[in-house]
Parts: sequence; structure tokens; C-alpha cells
Amino acid sequence: MISLDQVRFHWPKQADPTLHIASLQITQGEHVFLYGPSGSGKSTLLSLLCAIQLPSVGHIHILDTDLIGLSSAKRDQFRADHIGTIFQNFNLLTYLNAVENVLLGCQFSQQRQRKAGGSNAKIKQKAISLLVQLGINESLHKHAVNQLSIGQQQRVAVARALIGEPELIIADEPTSALDENARESFIQLLFEQAKHYQATIIFVSHDQTLAPLFSRQLNLPAINLASPNKEVIE
Ligand SMILES: Nc1ncnc2c1ncn2[C@@H]1O[C@H](COP(=O)(O)OP(=O)(O)O)[C@@H](O)[C@H]1O
Ligand SMILES: [Mg+2]
Repeated sequence: MISLDQVRFHWPKQADPTLHIASLQITQGEHVFLYGPSGSGKSTLLSLLCAIQLPSVGHIHILDTDLIGLSSAKRDQFRADHIGTIFQNFNLLTYLNAVENVLLGCQFSQQRQRKAGGSNAKIKQKAISLLVQLGINESLHKHAVNQLSIGQQQRVAVARALIGEPELIIADEPTSALDENARESFIQLLFEQAKHYQATIIFVSHDQTLAPLFSRQLNLPAINLASPNKEVIE
């Protein structure tokens, strides 16, 4: 599903390179918990996987597509078609209601619109049913999202990431605003929806108590040859 080969990344103006990953493979359906201290490059790695940034050296293949070979328009389309994202601040449009925010998830992808039912009416029905399955009942669907609680906004962000069944879900510290119990039930909800279509999940958190919920734990400094904390591999 995902393959990295000799990937190096250096932010402009930073003295040292941020990432050097010799090799990394992730299989379809894996639930990966990506961890490492603050500043260790987790978000940078996610931006490479989303093709928002390109490595200076090396190759990244996702679903057999070489991201480096794509034009910038094709990279944008690839992201819209295949990747659902959930960020720490959720990036919801606060003046839109919950359903409208979920619909944004497939706005730029005909492929995801097709998978979500095809017609506008069916896609809207899909958005409503996803929200209900995630515990946002219909009385809340027409509220502007800034009237919802943080936990509710987060579920809206999950529904937006899942609509149209993108193969890859990328979540960057989406639980940091929640208390411990809410974090775990949030992850269970995400997994439950993702398993309907074997989505691959890459989930970043600094909260180690969440790690056992995942099928794989990936310690970024241990595989990052640019990290001062890297393991010495003989
Ligand atoms: N947009 C950016 N421009 C320049 N440097 C950045 C940018 N984003 C992150 N960095 C640098 O890259 C390193 C890794 O940051 P980041 O990927 O955000 O780490 P993490 O998500 O693990 O906390 C840090 O040294 C950070 O300062
Ligand atoms: Mg980060």
C-alpha cells in the first residue's frame, strides 16, 4: 500500500535534515500508531505521505503510484481521491453545518463521490448516515459546526475523512483535545468505520496509552537516520 525508499527531507532554513528513512512498508488495512517526541518529524512524514511536500531524494509509492513522478495538479487529485485527513484542529469550516462539512471530503474527487453513492441526494444521505453512525444525531446536523462541542466537531472531521472510502486515513494528533476515555472511544469509532472497507490508518499521537489499540507501533526516531535518537543499525 505504501512504500518509502531512501527518502530524505530537509526543510529550507533548518540546519539539519529532518528525515532520512531508508525503507518503510505499510500494508493495506494496517492501523499504524506513529510516535516520537515533539519535533521528531511525525507531521513532516505525514505531509510527505499526503504529497503536500516532496522528498529531496528518494521515492514514495502509494497504491502503486510514484508520488514524485506526478505533476502538482495530479498530486492534488491523488490526495483528493485516496487520502482522508484528520488534523489536530480539525480544519472544519465553522460557518458551514455538519453535513456540509462532511460533503467537503469528496468535493474534489469524482471517484469518492461515486463511492459515496454518485448523485447529490445519495451523497448527502451518506454524509447523514456516517454522522449518525459516529454518534452525531440528526438534530445537530444543521447547526454551524462551531456550535458543536470539541468531541462532536472531531466526529464531523472523521466523517469528512471517511466519506467516499479513501484507501488511506491520516490522522495527526486528533485526540489531543480530548480526555483519556473519550480518546479511546474515538479511536474505536474510527476503526469500526474504517474496517467496513479495509482502510489503512496512520495515526500520530504522543499519548503512548493509545498504542496497544493499533496493529503496529512505529517509533519514528528508530527508523529515521537523520534523527539524533536513531537506533544504531550495524
Ligand atoms: N513548515 C516548516 N518549515 C520549516 N521547518 C519546519 C516546518 N514544519 C516543521 N519544521 C521543522 O521540522 C522538524 C520536525 O517537525 P514536525 O514534523 O512538526 O515534528 P512533530 O510532528 O514530530 O512534532 C522540526 O525541527 C520543525 O521545526
Ligand atoms: Mg506534529
